[in-house]
Amino acid sequence: MLDTSAPDAVHRSPAVVSGITPSGSLTLGNYLGALRRFVAEQQQTRGHFFIADLHALTTDHDPIRLHDLTLETATLFFATGLDLSSAAVFVQSHVRAHVELAYLLECTAYVGELSRMIQFKQKGGRPRTRASLFSYPCLMAADILLYDADMVPVGGDQDQHVELCRNLAVRFNRLYGETFVVPELAKAVLGSRVADLAEPRAKMSKSSAASSAGVIRMLDDPDLVVRKINRAVTDSEGKVRYDPVRKPGVSNLLDLAAALCGENPCDVAETVSSYGELKRRCADLVVAELTPIQQRYHDLAHHPDYVRGMLTAGAQQATVTAEQVLARARQNMGLLM
Ligand code: TYM
Repeated sequence: MLDTSAPDAVHRSPAVVSGITPSGSLTLGNYLGALRRFVAEQQQTRGHFFIADLHALTTDHDPIRLHDLTLETATLFFATGLDLSSAAVFVQSHVRAHVELAYLLECTAYVGELSRMIQFKQKGGRPRTRASLFSYPCLMAADILLYDADMVPVGGDQDQHVELCRNLAVRFNRLYGETFVVPELAKAVLGSRVADLAEPRAKMSKSSAASSAGVIRMLDDPDLVVRKINRAVTDSEGKVRYDPVRKPGVSNLLDLAAALCGENPCDVAETVSSYGELKRRCADLVVAELTPIQQRYHDLAHHPDYVRGMLTAGAQQATVTAEQVLARARQNMGLLM
């Protein structure tokens, strides 16, 4: 018999939920804005971290590439330090409750609010836009609400989605009784918006072309990282100072260095005297951070069955909580149990 009572917030450690879509090889932005924080938070919280494969189906996709990227992303999760003894690490589609709760939330969401989502406005609105691009914010809300999340660690580009999730949770609780925990957005203090090195006004994105010069991938080898940083766009002023509006390229490099050494970007600016020195500092920090992860990745990548085994165990862990919350939502909505 499933326990469908709402959670007792006082007696539990905070629950943290977040995911990454396998729509490209992970970037330094995904690492600093999300993955690194998952690892840091897994000890003190009840973490649920997943590869959001269903989200990768909302735009045209290549099935073989999706399959390979899902395994690559999972292997990187473990190589970065996520550990099943501290958190549930799994593939979203392995826990069926995500899709079912997404539908229940679609029945709570309004067309108006979904039409205002930035992603839909940017990529959607054409006759052949996939319907899932319109409705997937409900899937993302389900991803979060299924685990009674208190906090959602994400980069700055996900604010609108987490806000919608909060609105849906509040509305559902009001209409059908106390069902969901309303989560907080947990923004990164440093590294919440890593910009593209070649186009510093744009976000560094994993779905950019594989060859993109401004995107550092977590699996780029050290020589390539150094070359990309050396070619990063700066400006002609020649003075190292932090000014994201007028000096986006230099400020992005300062942000990167600051996020990696845990300092304030203005303080980092005080310690370097030229763009060349700033680039060398950045490259050293990025290479030092990524090299041990890459070594563990390459070891683990030789054992895909071991990685799959961990994902199966992670999905089993996640399913226990997910089924309880789903049952609560079904019951409160009036579905016959
Ligand atoms: P996705 O896969 O686009 O990004 C994964 C995480 O990486 C962060 N991020 C960045 N942070 C800093 N600088 C950047 N340049 C950068 N690029 C990406 C994102 O903010 C995100 O935290 N729909 C989500 C995945 C998702 C999810 C969820 C997240 C599905 N369900 C539930 C949280 C909770 C997405 O596509 O993220």
